[in-house]
Amino acid sequence: MSTEIVYLNGEFMPLGDARIPVLDRGFIFGDGVYEVIPVYSRRPFRLAEHLRRLQRSLDAIRLANPMSDAEWERLAQEIVARNQGEDQYVYLQVTRGVARRDHAFPQNVKPTVFVMSSPLTTPSRETVENGIKGITATDFRWLRCDVKSTSLLANCLMRQLALDVGAVEVVMFRDGYLTEGSASNVFVVKNGTLLATPKNHLVLPGITYDVVLELAAAAGIPAEVREIPEHEARAAEEIWITSSTKEILAVTTLDEKPVGDGKPGPVFRRIYQAYQDYKRTVMRQAA
Ligand code: PDD
Repeated sequence: MSTEIVYLNGEFMPLGDARIPVLDRGFIFGDGVYEVIPVYSRRPFRLAEHLRRLQRSLDAIRLANPMSDAEWERLAQEIVARNQGEDQYVYLQVTRGVARRDHAFPQNVKPTVFVMSSPLTTPSRETVENGIKGITATDFRWLRCDVKSTSLLANCLMRQLALDVGAVEVVMFRDGYLTEGSASNVFVVKNGTLLATPKNHLVLPGITYDVVLELAAAAGIPAEVREIPEHEARAAEEIWITSSTKEILAVTTLDEKPVGDGKPGPVFRRIYQAYQDYKRTVMRQAA
């Protein structure tokens, strides 16, 4: 039995005891939003930014935030304290609550709030040093990929396409332009310049994405935020994925072809190291 302690609607309990009614709109419609927050040395990383994005997602789906940022922060600390491991990741989800099945928003229904924290295993040294296999696919998701919605069927289908052929992540293109991965943002390097997709309705505004651009600026690595045509991405010297749980990983083969020389590139190595150093600095400051 798992010893994980979770939070559901005001109470802490073992994961195995947490129950939601089948009419929860999260279950019936995927009508909810979520966040995934990395926790290093028991300290949530960039929590304020994650809470800001949560608010943005809630606003987009017209659901009132059930808690203040201070309450979310206390809850995140509490769930981390009640679970094992120095490094964890907090998953939190808010749905529109329980109501008879009807597409229309229910009136006067309390949202369901669920929070759990699991051990965070960042990618192994070997994975960082070898990079990962990526494949490409046409992005067939909806047009509000900026909302961190629990409706992740399209993302699950995408991820499985990669797993089916022994790859790790899918790099998606829509109308001839790079969008993102099934659960990550995608960066490319061209002539030594880091290229990032603009934050618009077609991609999730990643927290790690922001950190990467800040670190690139601090390191004097030229960066451009602009639309990236598919042919440019396919010819890139380097391709990376970023996310809160995978941090930064180089995609070293794309559709079975090597990216650059097939090894994580020099710009990746600098930013990866800068990210590790930055994490340590932030954690020391928080201590
Ligand atoms: N996913 N794009 C998508 C579609 C994502 O699902 C994620 C993260 C990202 C990266 O965002 P961030 O850097 O803020 O983690 C981009 C999380 C980790 C998940 O669903 O598990």
